Amino acid sequence: MAGMIVPTRTPATVSVSRHADADEAGRRTRELETLHRLAQRVAAENDPRGVLERALETLVAMGWFECGEALLDEDGALTTVAVGACSVDQVGACALRSSLAEVAREALRRGAIMQRGSWRLVPVGPAALLALAGTADVSGSFLAAVVELVHAALKRTHLHARLAEKEQQRSRLLRAVLSAQEEERGRISRDLHDQIGQSLTALLLGLDRNLEAPDPDDLAKLKEIAAITLADVRRIALDLRPSVLDELGLEAALRRYARDTHERYQIDARVLVTLPQRLGHQEETVLYRVAQEALTNVVRHARASAVSVVVTASHGGVQLVVEDDGIGFDPAGLAAAEQVGLMGMRERIELLGGSLRIESAAGEGCSVYARLPSRHA
Ligand SMILES: Nc1ncnc2c1ncn2[C@@H]1O[C@H](COP(=O)(O)OP(=O)(O)OP(=O)(O)O)[C@@H](O)[C@H]1O
Ligand SMILES: [Mg+2]
Repeated sequence: MAGMIVPTRTPATVSVSRHADADEAGRRTRELETLHRLAQRVAAENDPRGVLERALETLVAMGWFECGEALLDEDGALTTVAVGACSVDQVGACALRSSLAEVAREALRRGAIMQRGSWRLVPVGPAALLALAGTADVSGSFLAAVVELVHAALKRTHLHARLAEKEQQRSRLLRAVLSAQEEERGRISRDLHDQIGQSLTALLLGLDRNLEAPDPDDLAKLKEIAAITLADVRRIALDLRPSVLDELGLEAALRRYARDTHERYQIDARVLVTLPQRLGHQEETVLYRVAQEALTNVVRHARASAVSVVVTASHGGVQLVVEDDGIGFDPAGLAAAEQVGLMGMRERIELLGGSLRIESAAGEGCSVYARLPSRHA
């Protein structure tokens, strides 16, 4: 029968395959609808439990599974955080459930979907898993899309929580900075009023006296008062913002501050700066403030005999290390309210995209490492 076209499908097979096509199309539509609904529902949740609850609800309501539960690995312990369809009593009595934890752990460890009887253990992130029960035919690609959606929603909740925590920290810090600023103003005002004001009054009275009857001894004393007052004014100005930082740069400003620390507190303070060129204005200010706070801490808390301040170029950025040989402390043992100064240092550095690390232990001194990235990186 050359030339005749032999039909490969009989009318019966055509009708069966039409049915199959229609079934397949229906299933795809239901899959898409489920994913759409799932995306909408998890998007409104800001905590992981809420996301997992909505995911379970949607998958059960759309008929993909009969029931299920969501498990979170919290510090090594798998905890059920949400139950879909079955009541909590039923879950407790579920015969399959006793061996589920083990398989769930295995699925989480492998990061792969595992099956046990009619249960599917579906990891939806490194520490979250959906245990879903049912006999319906669920395609691998659909499950993979569900996993991706839920995983993304969980990641968003983590970011959300981190952001909220950061925001809280920032506002705590801002309050602390504002009150520290007020305190500093109060101190400067007292310094000006008590020290400088009194000295200048003494000078004025002395000058009046000497205008009437000049006395070389008295004049010598007045000169001394003027010299002390000048030193006080310089100290106050240095504390506020050393002009040397703007004029001569970080190294000169740090040397000046270290010399002042040595003279006032007899701590051997050394400075080593090896930078090929001057840094930007912001970088210099931040590193100076961090070194200033670290040195103030050494004076106030460390009971150290020596401290070194080293600034070097490193990995295209710059690193500051302030190291003392004092009594040290446990940085992890401080409550947030006890480390406003340290948090202030960290905040300043992080604002410029850098990082700060403190290494210390009782009896082992303290090292503060601050790193700023290159501005051109
Ligand atoms: N170099 C150091 N040696 C020993 N202990 C230190 C050192 N630096 C910090 N500490 C400890 O860490 C604590 C927190 O320091 P932080 O600078 O945050 O606060 P503070 O100096 O007590 O107060 P302030 O807010 O005025 O700076 C200090 O109270 C002190 O116990
Ligand atoms: Mg401090």
